[in-house]
Amino acid sequence: MRPQDFSEAGLSSLPKEKLIALVKEMKAKRNAVILAHNYQEGPIQEAADFVGDSLKLAQHALKVEQPLILFCGVHFMAETAAMLCPEKKVLVPDLAAGCSLADMVIPSQVRAWKKEHPGGVVVCYINTSAAVKAECDYCCTSANGLEVIEAIPREKEIFFVPDYYLGSYLKAKSGRPIEVWKGYCPAHAVINPGEIEHLQEAYPEAEFLMHPECGCLTKQMDLADRILSTDGMIRYVKDSPSSAFIVATENGILYRMRKENPGKTFLPASEHAACHHMQRNTLEKVFRSLVRLEYEVTVEPEIARRAVICINRMMEVTGKPEIIPLSEDWILEAANDFR
Ligand code: 13P
Repeated sequence: MRPQDFSEAGLSSLPKEKLIALVKEMKAKRNAVILAHNYQEGPIQEAADFVGDSLKLAQHALKVEQPLILFCGVHFMAETAAMLCPEKKVLVPDLAAGCSLADMVIPSQVRAWKKEHPGGVVVCYINTSAAVKAECDYCCTSANGLEVIEAIPREKEIFFVPDYYLGSYLKAKSGRPIEVWKGYCPAHAVINPGEIEHLQEAYPEAEFLMHPECGCLTKQMDLADRILSTDGMIRYVKDSPSSAFIVATENGILYRMRKENPGKTFLPASEHAACHHMQRNTLEKVFRSLVRLEYEVTVEPEIARRAVICINRMMEVTGKPEIIPLSEDWILEAANDFR
């Protein structure tokens, strides 16, 4: 290929299989590894070395031997890999692929809470910037949130940032008076209870799986058969004898579910549940990123030093990620809380 063909239009005129092969070739030349989140488009997953949820991706980054990681996800995930693997270069295909939820809390807001609650503990969802993590005590993901909360001494006050729905879930499951920040994921917020009810009427045999970031979690959780992280969902649909599933999370996950379970039916809880940040990453940009070695993600060393403490506490507590079983009747309480 001539360099002038590296334009997005030039690359996208190639058949996807050809571009996947070129990405793999370039990856080998660069001695790079591609890590991709479960929400990424199919062709990126096909070119990746490892596909997983936020926790598995962070854990996998620690095992990478190659000097170069191309991270296909959103910015905080690449930042986490860069902090955990300071000796490696971490690239993203598009620097603007951020996370709206992560942007909903900033370091000064965490500092303000800590000032008012000396001795309190701040738990941050991994969907936070490195600068926010640096102010927090523990990190967690949707796969290990409960384990992390349970590792904190009972007498400690806990503040959870930034996802209201995951925080409410953890509050209910742990029975602890956690103060929860009111951030949310826009992709999950569009999933609405009415659409789910219609799907359940149309497909009564389908199991209903929900991510704890779902905007209707507080109203609809009693109807969910399972509340799971994205990897939890991937494992669950494989093992379950059911043949149909209503899936309430970002719709990129359907690619992997359908590929790995060809005999089963997967119905998106909403056709509109799309993370536009994740979708900024395309296979064309992945290829260009490897050719041009752009865009590097770095974290200021002092921020990284403090943020890694918070991430490592999670890594120490977390065992094998488990399926989170469905909880009881805290939904109304949480719904009132959010008003
Ligand atoms: P998982 O950790 O379940 O993959 O979720 C990450 C995320 O950002 C969901 O929106």
